[in-house]
Amino acid sequence: MILPLTLEDVAYASGGQPIIRGVSLAIEAGPSTIILGANGAGKSVLMRLMHGLLAPTAGVIRWRESGARRCQAMVFQRPVMLRRSALANVTYALELAGVPAAERERQALAALEEVGLGQLAARPARVLSGGEQQRLALARAWALHPEVLFLDEPTANLDPGATREIESVIRAFDAAGTKIVMATHNLGQARRLGDEVIYLHGGRVLERAAIGQFFARPSSAEAAAFIKGEVPWT
Ligand SMILES: Nc1ncnc2c1ncn2[C@@H]1O[C@H](COP(=O)(O)OP(=O)(O)O)[C@@H](O)[C@H]1O
Ligand SMILES: [Mg+2]
Repeated sequence: MILPLTLEDVAYASGGQPIIRGVSLAIEAGPSTIILGANGAGKSVLMRLMHGLLAPTAGVIRWRESGARRCQAMVFQRPVMLRRSALANVTYALELAGVPAAERERQALAALEEVGLGQLAARPARVLSGGEQQRLALARAWALHPEVLFLDEPTANLDPGATREIESVIRAFDAAGTKIVMATHNLGQARRLGDEVIYLHGGRVLERAAIGQFFARPSSAEAAAFIKGEVPWT
């Protein structure tokens, strides 16, 4: 178990500009955690700090167990695909994770089946639709059986049908025991997928609450305005 992940007074600045300010929190196994906030609140930077793609400029980020990067995966708003088949994109991820060559194809096909892309295994990844590419990104993560999956606005560019398909794959990860940490500015998606909300504003955590409580009784004026749609976002 690599969880909990703890952040102690974490800050991130770029060019002297503070982006994340004094964030302290623990991410525990179990509930699906939604990082909610308006555009520019710092959700993506916070997720990258958690996943280890950025180093904090102050403070400490600690996993219960270090050196276990295989147990975490991240899916981005825009999936990055290799110029190879869907299948090869997944077997490559397995290769990087140190899975023996003889086992990669079977595991990759199982992951593609899981996300509903079994029929498209041989198709070049770059010709897949946006929703299919995002499911392929989820298949790459699925194949690794991560303990934690970070998702950064995974459906921001997708239509409602593709969004529903992605959400059902995210539920499957949750059902398989993967901890979900998802950044979104989509209130409906937060309600559908989240158990708890971490509300970010101006690089600070303003509140953290169970999903029902957050929507019924937000404790900050900023979150209340965001829920009412008074904070502009795209
Ligand atoms: N690498 C970077 N260098 C400088 N500023 C950045 C960088 N990444 C993000 N920012 C800025 O930090 C703020 C938070 O960005 P971001 O985490 O992308 O917000 P969100 O994901 O909540 O929309 C924004 O003002 C953005 O312009
Ligand atoms: Mg973002």
